[in-house]
Amino acid sequence: MRMIDLIEKKQHNESLTESEIKWMIEHYTADDIPDYQMSAMAMAIYFNGMNNEERSALTMAMVESGDQIDLSPIEGVKVDKHSTGGVGDTTTLVLAPLVASVGIPVAKMSGRGLGHTGGTIDKLEAVPGFNVEVTQEKFVDLVNKNKVAVVGQSGNLTPADKKMYALRDVTGTVESIPLIASSIMSKKIAAGADAIVLDVKTGAGAFMKSVEQAKELAETMVNIGEAVERNTMAVISDMSQPLGNAIGNSLEVKEAIDTLKGHGPEDLTELCLVLGSQMAYLGGVGSSLDEARAKLEENLQNGKALDVFKTFIAAQGGDASVADNPDDVLPKAEYTKEVTAETSGKVSEIVADQIGISAMMLGAGRETKESQLDLAAGLYIHKKIGDKVEKGEALVTLYSNKEITQDVVDKIINNIKISDEATTPTLIHQIVQ
Ligand code: URA
Ligand code: CA
Repeated sequence: MRMIDLIEKKQHNESLTESEIKWMIEHYTADDIPDYQMSAMAMAIYFNGMNNEERSALTMAMVESGDQIDLSPIEGVKVDKHSTGGVGDTTTLVLAPLVASVGIPVAKMSGRGLGHTGGTIDKLEAVPGFNVEVTQEKFVDLVNKNKVAVVGQSGNLTPADKKMYALRDVTGTVESIPLIASSIMSKKIAAGADAIVLDVKTGAGAFMKSVEQAKELAETMVNIGEAVERNTMAVISDMSQPLGNAIGNSLEVKEAIDTLKGHGPEDLTELCLVLGSQMAYLGGVGSSLDEARAKLEENLQNGKALDVFKTFIAAQGGDASVADNPDDVLPKAEYTKEVTAETSGKVSEIVADQIGISAMMLGAGRETKESQLDLAAGLYIHKKIGDKVEKGEALVTLYSNKEITQDVVDKIINNIKISDEATTPTLIHQIVQ
């Protein structure tokens, strides 16, 4: 086989066969195919797309390019969740214990973050003592015993995707639905998922700006999932404003604890119940999404989800008293500042990505891979879109261990609009299954 023939085939809008795709990914991973040929291929795919057979073949070829986590020693259906990324997305911290509380094993490998805040792993490290580096054997033991463990990534998973993603980043080929879909699905499958729940975000703070784009991505991933025998469901959810009220590592841990106690922010709670129902249902709890949801709601009310959270934190060395006294246990910021409303009215816009960047400027996120996180840094949004506000009332509280500069305050003021009228955004646009 020759790569030039495959490039020309795709250029002429013909489909590639499974064996051609396998050959291409194998040889690209082994550095036998140069970046310039793969970037021509990525551009041809960008313009001409891929059908479901090609996307599924690409997904599995990337899965097979590296290590695959074997979760078969864990009893039950291993359901993983993936979010396409947003601002202040605290769902994993809530979902892991919540879904485990109804008996579904949650064996989660998470990453560190680049951007607005840390990833789930960074957030968990805000809990003193919490250990994210666990051997594969211990990981399996923890899930079998407590139904939940969240650890850092280990092993060489999907090296083909790492190489391709870096190449796409510099060749204008990131925004191709078949390439995004197979990239995401390959990582979940290599991490051992039997079933997958996807939270595809849409809006200003998301990768997919329109509901139509988000829907196309969601449907593409669900189709791949079916083709490769991983039951897959997706939610299209709003990211026109940050999720919940807290952005920042400690602040989000506290928000997750509030949510597990049944008094978290309305939007975060609802999204966790929607995603959690899908995870539980795919795992075999209840005969419908509604039945699965009722069980989750029950465990938020009766304290079982919070109990699982405590067990999970303690099992990984963390201080479980964080659940009862988060303010005493979590890192605290030396400096705080309130940003107040300059006029009265209703909050009509909160530009999610810019508010996320403000949190990063305070120290909550990494600008580069080497940046040090300030686990106490971040911000708390007091007013969400649609809320009434009086001039002088607090809009946002900022937290940091370095002195808070005026440019962060200005960024907040400039990115929260107050008008006479405001429409509350729809949180869940669609369920795709
Ligand atoms: N996220 C991924 O994991 N892969 C992509 O290709 C795009 C976004
Ligand atoms: Ca949040």
